Amino acid sequence: MSAKQSLTDAYQLNDGRTIPCVGYGTWQTPDGEVAKNSVKTALEVGYRHIDTAFAYYNEVGVGQGIIESGIKREDIFITTKLWNTDRGYETALKSAQLSLKNLGVEYIDLYLIHWPANDIVYDDPKAVNAATWRAFEKLQKDGLVRSIGVSNFLAQHLQQIFDVCEVKPAVDQIECHPGYPQFETVEFCRQNDIIVEAWSPLGCGRVLTDERMKAIADRYGKSVAQLSLRWELQHGILPLPKSTHADRIKSNAEIFDFSISDEDMKTIDDMPEFGYSTFSPLTLTF
Ligand code: A2P
Repeated sequence: MSAKQSLTDAYQLNDGRTIPCVGYGTWQTPDGEVAKNSVKTALEVGYRHIDTAFAYYNEVGVGQGIIESGIKREDIFITTKLWNTDRGYETALKSAQLSLKNLGVEYIDLYLIHWPANDIVYDDPKAVNAATWRAFEKLQKDGLVRSIGVSNFLAQHLQQIFDVCEVKPAVDQIECHPGYPQFETVEFCRQNDIIVEAWSPLGCGRVLTDERMKAIADRYGKSVAQLSLRWELQHGILPLPKSTHADRIKSNAEIFDFSISDEDMKTIDDMPEFGYSTFSPLTLTF
């Protein structure tokens, strides 16, 4: 059962910092006015955690939304991610500077390696992941990023980092939603005190049309989106719902006034795979 009461209730990170338990996702949000205005709407609604990435090509608009919101920088938790073409020590350091500039901020709250290097693309992916992580540790030491973590890492990739790191990843952001919970990775992270964030917590919208989910949601008087996000929270996972529509941004935050029963949690947990994006860190060719 999630004891979280609001968007700003926090999960504890393994580096001593905290992170708001729901983030506003921006994957596939176009840069410019759309990114700026939807981030402003999210902040007005009460989100205090914004998730973007260099490769979403919207850091500039996201940053403008944050500035124009008038909310103090220190009251907003900003995550961005290093893109795959910038893996490695020097390139990661440079790319972080670019993200800081794009966002118009002095520091990033959480910086993630977007995807692990794999053996399809690299002769020695472990060395590449290690070099990138060294850069992340330096960025943290230099105060340019506060917390460091990874995204789309499976246990085997996390183990590569554990073998070489001074600082353990604080977060692993993975695809996670009803129909594709990735419980094995979630459990590995839990055992290693790493917070799991869910990208595409609504399966990029694919979960929303599922009739079984709809039947459960109806019993709670909630939408399938709210049921999915609540299911993630009750698993101790941090959802990052994306929408560019004000009504949905608002309703996706209304997940603290109901609780899913153990029986319904189990029914959702046990659903056969559906809604999977098909993006796998093991087969990615970039
Ligand atoms: P839109 O941005 O047009 O609202 P995910 O967060 O899993 O990636 O899902 C995002 C997708 O789901 C987007 O296509 C978004 O569309 C849509 N979406 C987000 N919230 C809702 C909602 N409450 N109801 C319906 N669709 C939603």
